[in-house]
Amino acid sequence: MSAFRTIWTTEDHYVEVIDQRKLPHEWVVEKLISYKDAERAIKEMVVRGAPLIGATAAYGIYLAAKEGADLNEAFADLRLSRPTAVNLFWALDRMKAKLAGATDLVQTAWEEAAQIVEDDVETCRMIGVHGLPLIEAISKKKRGETVHILTHCNAGMLGCIEWGTITSPIYQAVQKGIKVHVWVDETRPRLQGANLTCYELTRHDVPHTLIVDNQGGHLMQHGMVDMCIVGTDRTTRQGDVANKIGTYLKALAAHDNHIPFYVALPSTTLDMTIRDGLKEIPIEQRNQNEVRYVVGKSKITGQLDEVLICPETTQASNYGFDVTPARLVTALITERGVCNASEEGLLKLFPEYN
Ligand code: MRU
Repeated sequence: MSAFRTIWTTEDHYVEVIDQRKLPHEWVVEKLISYKDAERAIKEMVVRGAPLIGATAAYGIYLAAKEGADLNEAFADLRLSRPTAVNLFWALDRMKAKLAGATDLVQTAWEEAAQIVEDDVETCRMIGVHGLPLIEAISKKKRGETVHILTHCNAGMLGCIEWGTITSPIYQAVQKGIKVHVWVDETRPRLQGANLTCYELTRHDVPHTLIVDNQGGHLMQHGMVDMCIVGTDRTTRQGDVANKIGTYLKALAAHDNHIPFYVALPSTTLDMTIRDGLKEIPIEQRNQNEVRYVVGKSKITGQLDEVLICPETTQASNYGFDVTPARLVTALITERGVCNASEEGLLKLFPEYN
């Protein structure tokens, strides 16, 4: 679907990723040689986005096997790399199960990590297949006029491998000739919307407009948003959804304005072991300097730079995610279809969790 993927292997059997901290200004590829490289890439957000975190961790285990590292230590270290996206734990558990009893650990890990990547590509494609009719229906209702979609953070291909979750229905709608336009929340503090979503929408020729995070409510009140689609890092059994900080406020505004609020997710983001997202999803707290400084390309030097935006002594709070309760979610878009954000809805599509 796309000219590039977000993670790939090299001829000498190592792993490469794009340093997403530098996008959209610089295209820098980072080679992961040891599992510690994979761990650092996740921790420092060289890679980010729930499915890509999972895939990188899987390759981290492969690298640990290749370098003869203590696998138990590698699993433990990688599990601590980020707390909220459940895909990390899902991928590590899948690798552990596959490696148990394997005779050739390196080859088995290599193949399983590659399979995790391929599975995600197909899963995201199918999310698009099931999400497309939702966009199509609005387009029809508007007699072919542009469908305005608001999104938060980056749940595009850069957060996955290809297609993305929220972008898959959008890309498939564009391929079908449906007119769409995306309002992209800049997504402070790390600006995944401005830096990453705008980058990939530009590369895929999707009309879009960058907005500050606080603008969405105003647009919704004035009939300028037809639907919201966001991603998720962990969705619970009762359909509560953790996603990038600020998602909840968009869901509230959408609810108040009777605008459908969809969450697109691969089933690898389901955490069916917990119910109450507010109480049970661990929310990452990151370094306060991500809030105190803004990173961007300097107008003066043309180089990436960090700019302090508050007094030197001001302290900042930096919760990375919030939880949107299921009652504010119109529906979940998964690779198996669209369902209510509820246990009943999820079990209809995923009866294996009964
Ligand atoms: O902190 P990030 O950039 O890893 O947060 C990413 C998100 O919140 C995404 O919306 C989510 O992981 C879904 S990616 C398909």
